[in-house]
Amino acid sequence: MPFSQSIKILFITPEITPLLKTGGLADVSAALPAALREHKVDVRVLLPAYPRVMGSLKNVRLLTTLTNIGVHGEVKLLEAELPGSDVPLLLVNYPLFYEREGNPYIDADGQDWADNAQRFALLSRVGALLGNSNSPLDWHPDIVQCNDWQSGLTPAYLHFSPAPSAAAIMTIHNLAFQGTFPASLTTPLGLPASSYSINGTEYYGQLSFLKAGLFYANHITTVSPTYAEEIQQEPLGFGMQGLLAHRYMDLTGIVNGIDVNEWNPATDKLLTHRYNSNDMSGKAAGKRALQNRLGLEENPDIPILGVVSRLTHQKGLDLLPAIASFLLEYPAQIVILGSGEASLETTFQLLAQNHPGQVATVIGFNEELSHQIEAGSDIFLMPSRFEPCGLNQMYSQCYGTPPVVHSTGGLADTVVDSTPENIANGTATGFVFRHVTTHGLNECIHRALDIYRDQPTWRKIQSNGMLRDFSWNRSAEEYLALYEMILKGY
Ligand code: ADP
Ligand code: GLC
Repeated sequence: MPFSQSIKILFITPEITPLLKTGGLADVSAALPAALREHKVDVRVLLPAYPRVMGSLKNVRLLTTLTNIGVHGEVKLLEAELPGSDVPLLLVNYPLFYEREGNPYIDADGQDWADNAQRFALLSRVGALLGNSNSPLDWHPDIVQCNDWQSGLTPAYLHFSPAPSAAAIMTIHNLAFQGTFPASLTTPLGLPASSYSINGTEYYGQLSFLKAGLFYANHITTVSPTYAEEIQQEPLGFGMQGLLAHRYMDLTGIVNGIDVNEWNPATDKLLTHRYNSNDMSGKAAGKRALQNRLGLEENPDIPILGVVSRLTHQKGLDLLPAIASFLLEYPAQIVILGSGEASLETTFQLLAQNHPGQVATVIGFNEELSHQIEAGSDIFLMPSRFEPCGLNQMYSQCYGTPPVVHSTGGLADTVVDSTPENIANGTATGFVFRHVTTHGLNECIHRALDIYRDQPTWRKIQSNGMLRDFSWNRSAEEYLALYEMILKGY
């Protein structure tokens, strides 16, 4: 056996942990396939052969060479295994498109790569070819699962191909990224002119890769049940709400899990000190080490408010500077690790300069520090305006760092507010606020800081979160049930 009788899934993604990551999609792309394989689902992951990916792989084999796939010359399809797991990778090797250093989507100046449409159309097209009965491989997926706009054209290519053999799922990780390009690319990208219509790929006068996926896929999933509801309406539907509401019977929200091998404070190799819910001394030591590393006053009694995030409007962190001075007086310390919009980076750098010893800002992407902030902070901040799922609020609950979150998307689905009732019945794991304003955030953080002073209650909230099961096991079972339902034709 073990996979000969199983469902075969081709999982298409533009990024994957630990090879190349810009956000949570990379984590999901590694952990969900691994969890599905534990459930005997035969998942293979298709992604571009970026140099950073290729540099970390061993034993890469040539599977086949593709011609006539919409680009000049040959495209090689390579095969390898994801390091640290048995997840098979299929790599689209086309140096002209993918052999560039740095971010997969933007150049060093922060501009989208000018040929992103062609780059991700190729990824989508290879995915569709492998889901066709004339695929050059012996392995034929039952379902191709597309993730975000970068593989959004796969369901369209499948729909228009002569012999599609796989069903398509379009998984939305973030509806704000839609992959919109000039409509004039429709024919050059190999789609029939008729596909550019309101019942097709057209989105406000442009060609949208995501809209294509949402329209042509057999089923749509997103990464939490609450987000699945929110995107059927304004404002979080970002213009797709009509289509999504129309397809609500084909739309399922499944909350992400987290990789508990990577994110477990008892075994985490990136921590200076490890701990568990019975013995939290390592957390206190990690806090001291964090204060020392970042030049903060080394004081165990001052609560640290931690942030690890992309610095974008979505994440709501622009609300923090206006209330920072009230929080620091409490007293509290603030630690920020992130990168993104230049204006937010500057704002947080200035905040740190103006409050030495109380605020530390680190701009950049730093995996090790992100683990140490999750562990060394006392409260984690995630005031996202919207959040399809969010991973950090789950990491922080596991690390005994109750999160302060806006009641949206996956944050609403994974954090239990510390109301008096929830504290009494042992379910409270964090702090949830309804109105994403400076006032709403300020009030919620103060509520958390007040309870932090009541250490016995705080300990209970911490251990409620630490004992919750956020592993992928449950989500993988839900995906498996969905795959079975799709293959039965509902
Ligand atoms: P999103 O995908 O919208 O950015 P998620 O919460 O789903 O949000 O996932 C973000 C992931 O990226 C988490 O694993 C988080 O720890 C990580 N991350 C974000 N910014 C940084 C950073 N500056 N350094 C290290 N890790 C980061
Ligand atoms: C996106 C979302 C985030 C989600 C992640 C993985 O980046 O912004 O909320 O957790 O995808 O699904």
